[in-house]
Formats: sequence, structure tokens, C-alpha cells
Amino acid sequence: MNIVLLGLPGAGKGTQAKHLSNIFDFYHLSTGEIFRRAIKNETELGKRAKKYTESGDLVPDEITIELIKKEIEKVNKRGDEGIIFDGFPRTENQAEALSDLLADFDQEIDLCIYIKVAVDELIIRLSGRRICEDCKAIYHIKFNPPAEEGICDQCGGNLYQRTDDSEEVVKNRIERNKQEMEKLLAYYEEKGVLEQVVGTGKMPEDVKEETPLVVKEYRE
Ligand code: AP5
Repeated sequence: MNIVLLGLPGAGKGTQAKHLSNIFDFYHLSTGEIFRRAIKNETELGKRAKKYTESGDLVPDEITIELIKKEIEKVNKRGDEGIIFDGFPRTENQAEALSDLLADFDQEIDLCIYIKVAVDELIIRLSGRRICEDCKAIYHIKFNPPAEEGICDQCGGNLYQRTDDSEEVVKNRIERNKQEMEKLLAYYEEKGVLEQVVGTGKMPEDVKEETPLVVKEYRE
């Protein structure tokens, strides 16, 4: 079973993807995380993606689709129940490419969960986000704070703030993603696999109760 998580920046895709991959046997595939690791390690992919991620623009489709192709080939050898795509697709072109890539393995997207959150709330969420530099656990200084400030509850690693979480870059990220979101929603609606979870005004724990129920419905 393969799942796409859709949502504007800060909607909670990473938070829910981590939660679902802990409950079920899914592989969590985050394109944003792969780009950040590549940039940190100064790989060829990192050098190509850096200027886009820093400004909040989308990395061009040809780079991103090539990356996802390699990841799907790698992950399919692991024998997980399926993949949770977090941050991919972001354009209709990427959605079509994903469908073709999965078809090569006799697979498809079985469920697309759209996490809907109002823009004002997204900005508050992103400006307070902190991430563990070791295990990548996601916190929020107000909505999901660690027990000890700046330290990860799960592994004791240091928490950091993403460079693309500055207000100016956040606004650009939201704008860029908004332009494509309607088309993606229409694409998955047409395939009959789209489900919506309302995230506005809800704490991470409330949304975490809802998403596994949606997955179970499609899994049975
Ligand atoms: P990426 O890392 O995917 O960033 P994003 O889409 O902007 O999403 P975020 O990771 O910021 O947010 P999220 O929805 O995962 O929210 P989170 O769970 O962390 O991509 C980065 C960049 O890479 C892009 O800008 C682009 O340049 C490039 N890129 C990536 N994929 C690409 C693609 N396919 N094509 C082209 N370019 C691509 O939660 C956010 C905060 O809110 C946290 O602090 C969390 O604790 C808190 N929170 C979560 N849920 C709740 C809740 N219910 N209530 C209160 N707080 C909550």
C-alpha cells in the first residue's frame, strides 16, 4: 500500500508520516529531508538543489523525479508494506511520473491524505518548529515542546531551526506550493483515493488519532 501525504508547508506532513510509519510497516520517504541531507554532505544532488530550497522555490521536476526513481528502486528491495510519500509529488507532472514509476512494480497510490491547515497557522507552526539534528524528530516550541529546551526527548540530540523557516522564505514556500495544490487535489480526487483531514486548530496529538483511522479504512 502506498500513501501520498499532501499539505502546504507546515501542515504536518512530516509529523504524521513519522507517526504512521511507527504504527504501520511503511517506509517514510521525505524529499525535503533527502535534499537537506544531500546539501549538508555537499553531494552533486545537494549542489543542484541548494539554491531552490534556500529560497523556498520548488526544485525542478527533472532533478526531483530522478531522485524519487532511485529511491523507489532502493525501497522496493526492503520489503516494507509500502511507502509514505512526504513532500512528493508537488506538481501534476510529478504525480504522473510517480504513477508511471510505481506501475513498473505493479503498484499504485492507494491513498492520498490531504492535511488542510489555514495559512496563518502554518506561519506560526513553521516559525516555532525545531528538529533533532540526529534522529530528525519534529518539535514545536509551543505545540509540541521537548521536555528539556533544545534537547531531543527521543535520542538526546541537539534541536535546530531550519534555515528555510525564516518568515520571508516561508511565505514564498507557501505561495509556490499553493499554485500546484489545487491541481494535485483534483488529480487524486479523480483517481478516487483522496481523503481530507482538517488540521486547523488541532494539536498534533488530535491529528495523530485521525490519520491511522483513515489508513486502516483503505488497508482493509
Ligand atoms: P520539505 O522539507 O518537504 O518542506 P515543506 O513541504 O515546506 O514541509 P515542511 O517540512 O516545512 O512541513 P510539514 O508539512 O512536514 O510540517 P511538520 O510536520 O514539520 O521541503 C523543503 C524544500 O525542498 C521545498 O521548499 C523545496 O524547495 C524542496 N522540495 C521538497 N520536495 C520537493 C518536490 N517534490 N519538488 C520540488 N521541490 C521539492 O510540522 C510543522 C511544525 O508544526 C512542527 O513544528 C510541528 O511540531 C508543528 N505541528 C505539526 N502538526 C501540528 C498540529 N496539528 N498543531 C500544531 N502544531 C503542529
